[in-house]
Amino acid sequence: ATQSDPYDVVVIGGGPGGYVAAIKAAQLGFKTACIEKRGSLGGTCLNVGCIPSKAMLNNSHIYHQTQHDLKNRGIDVGDVKLNLKQMLAAKASSVKALTGGIETYLFKKNGVDYIKGAASFASPTQINVALNDGGETQVEAKNVIIATGSEVTPFPGIEIDEKRIVSSTGALDLQEVPKKMVVIGGGIIGLELGSVWSRLGAEVTVVEFLGAVGAGMDGEVGKQFQKILAKQGIKFKLNTKVVSAEREGETVKLKVDAAKGGKEETLEADVVLVAIGRRPVTEGLNLEAIGVETDKRGRIVIDDQFNTSAKGVKCIGDVTFGPMLAHKAEEEGIAAVEIIKNGHGHVNYDAIPSVVYTHPEVSWVGKNEEELKAAGIKYKVGKYPFAANSRAKTNQDADGFVKFLVEKDTDQVLGVHIIGPNAGEMIAAACLAVEYKASAEDIARTCHPHPTLSEAFKEAALAAYDQPINF
Ligand code: FAD
Ligand code: NAI
Repeated sequence: ATQSDPYDVVVIGGGPGGYVAAIKAAQLGFKTACIEKRGSLGGTCLNVGCIPSKAMLNNSHIYHQTQHDLKNRGIDVGDVKLNLKQMLAAKASSVKALTGGIETYLFKKNGVDYIKGAASFASPTQINVALNDGGETQVEAKNVIIATGSEVTPFPGIEIDEKRIVSSTGALDLQEVPKKMVVIGGGIIGLELGSVWSRLGAEVTVVEFLGAVGAGMDGEVGKQFQKILAKQGIKFKLNTKVVSAEREGETVKLKVDAAKGGKEETLEADVVLVAIGRRPVTEGLNLEAIGVETDKRGRIVIDDQFNTSAKGVKCIGDVTFGPMLAHKAEEEGIAAVEIIKNGHGHVNYDAIPSVVYTHPEVSWVGKNEEELKAAGIKYKVGKYPFAANSRAKTNQDADGFVKFLVEKDTDQVLGVHIIGPNAGEMIAAACLAVEYKASAEDIARTCHPHPTLSEAFKEAALAAYDQPINF
């Protein structure tokens, strides 16, 4: 192939959806390019999302534990001090190693051409690229995959300056610990980043419009989760709506109102985090020129084969329907490329896990109780507390439980909800159960290692159709 030959596949966006699709396409023998304007690969997830937030969550947890928990464990340490500059540097070095690894190792190894610039459609098969280094180029493609991701949803009337009024991006890079932080939105970002700064010493208040936190998690788990976070020092104002937020010097004044009427109140903070959701990014793509349809929320409309309304143009990840999660974007990237190659490819949307990486962690896959009730499905519940698990007890880390929801007559696993230590790793076993339509008995009759937290998983499965042994 020469430079002027068209590409078989061009992917726009180098996030977890786009870069994974590009690697898979190259592995399947396609001449492939990936266009990314950010200046580094990995998208939101690796640059300003999953990876830096987990670095801060992990290290703030170690700091907090060293301060408050080591004494009980027989470890006396001297003066514990926070070196925030070093903690931010550790985060930055993890990000750099991972984003750099895609460019210098994965793309080279698989033969993906990396075009650094902003893409814009001239036609469904021709893409103009405004190169980061200046100038323009045009690439031709037989197939295009749009994977341009998402960005923070702005709060009307509240201006994000990334210093005092921040999005998640600013909240991952605060140069000092705020005394008072107000988080607008008790969803995943609010709870994860609220936890980080609370552990590092900030007084954190979460203002949530709805009556529960945790955007979409099982109601019982959400309540328990909020209680545990409150015990850790985070304050919650539920059923409360933010009316305005304005900077006055180095302070931000927020007006809040009870969501269902009631009295207005003013809160003060030195940092406000706006975390009310994310919205798709399509700006600059010139979609109008090729007739790609978007819905009311700005998402690119696709069919069940990831086709947009323009022939030969597919779309995956945060910029289209479904949960805004890195692993969902990746699965779609692989399936879209397999469809181009073989005519078929599949994502099981019933088996996409969610994890909140606080301490304890929260994870789930499949249906929650509220969804099963709404759908009129008869189900049984099997629950097992970590307080009755030997490993959680010896680790002195036993808050939470595992909850199985199984179909009443067949015991087929419909949903698993975990709040507890290592819930994020443990949910992978539940994903297999949902994917392979296992019954609770299949799991409970499978030998699990002792002493591990995973025995709580096995016992909860046992509790769903029989009785647990150790509780
Ligand atoms: P993105 O990662 O957003 O990538 C899209 C890329 O396209 C961007 O790099 C952008 O620069 C580029 N682009 C856009 N337009 C153009 C154009 N015209 N030309 C060229 N390039 C373009 N998800 C999880 O699963 N687990 C987590 O723990 C997690 N933590 C998160 C924490 C935070 C703080 C945030 C904000 C998000 C988190 N997410 C997490 C969500 C996750 O980051 C996204 O779901 C994921 O990045 C979506 O992948 P994507 O490839 O669809 O889009
Ligand atoms: P979210 O959708 O999880 O939560 C937003 C919250 O803000 C909701 O609870 C909503 O009711 C509330 N809200 C909306 N408008 C409000 C208002 N005016 N006042 C007060 N509250 C209001 O969105 P979030 O937390 O911004 O995260 C965005 C996306 O990023 C999510 O879809 C999530 O999937 C992804 N993400 C995933 C992570 C993970 O997998 N661990 C970590 C962080 C983000």
